[in-house]
Amino acid sequence: MKREPLYEGKAKRVYATENPHEYVVEYKDDATAFNGVKRAQILGKGAVNNAITAHLFPQLEAAGIPTHFIERLSDTEQRVRAVTIVPVEVIVRNVAAGSFSKRLGVEEGTPLARPVVEYCYKSDALGDPLINRDTAVALGWASEEDLGRIRELALRVRDFLTPYFAARGIRLIDFKLEFGKTPGGQVVLADEISPDTCRFWDAATGEKLDKDRFRRDLGGVEEAYAEMLRRVTSEAEGGKQKAEG
Ligand SMILES: Nc1ncnc2c1ncn2[C@@H]1O[C@H](COP(=O)(O)OP(=O)(O)OP(=O)(O)O)[C@@H](O)[C@H]1O
Ligand SMILES: [Mg+2]
Repeated sequence: MKREPLYEGKAKRVYATENPHEYVVEYKDDATAFNGVKRAQILGKGAVNNAITAHLFPQLEAAGIPTHFIERLSDTEQRVRAVTIVPVEVIVRNVAAGSFSKRLGVEEGTPLARPVVEYCYKSDALGDPLINRDTAVALGWASEEDLGRIRELALRVRDFLTPYFAARGIRLIDFKLEFGKTPGGQVVLADEISPDTCRFWDAATGEKLDKDRFRRDLGGVEEAYAEMLRRVTSEAEGGKQKAEG
């Protein structure tokens, strides 16, 4: 089924298949931070991120958000629709953290009065700089119409995931999405949703259960990833659903 590797990123490998409309994505244990400056292996990360993404994407699809996901093939592999990735990373924030806190001098953990959508240019060479929608249109990365659809879908992902995680004892602080376009011109959610691409804080203790444990040398990295897989695949706890995150 898997043919030649097409692209090796920092966290995944993308393979061609005998079907030109489908790829196989293989999730690796490799972890990088600060635009590749810090590197390590996180044991079991590939399997956890594959499993979490494979668990969430069909539920997003069922909630009306088109995605690239087709099926999980193995511990670390999934079959997806081949898309042309829009070179814009979409960040959705419920609570101030990370680069937002740094840039604006807002203390990490400060709830935001409304969700904030930010856009970055997907460029390792430039360190994924913050852009706005005008920039993306002016430089031909996406149309105004596509960007409107992307924003709408990103907020719908947020509206699904925030209560989903709250019901499992997790505050969804922020997350990064990538979108792609099918040959037919449909905008679909692509890439992954995992502790590599989200900030997850334990609702009871405030403990970080995401890649910040690696970025900030907090220890217990493997354990945090394993715990997030457990939470994601666990049943919702009744009465815990709330919108804020
Ligand atoms: N369905 C898809 N079709 C085509 N490419 C995809 C699809 N889903 C994800 N990708 C791309 O595959 C690559 C996944 O690899 P990985 O996450 O390791 O990349 P990365 O190191 O974050 O680098 P990049 O800066 O290119 O995203 C990314 O470039 C991502 O945009
Ligand atoms: Mg990536």
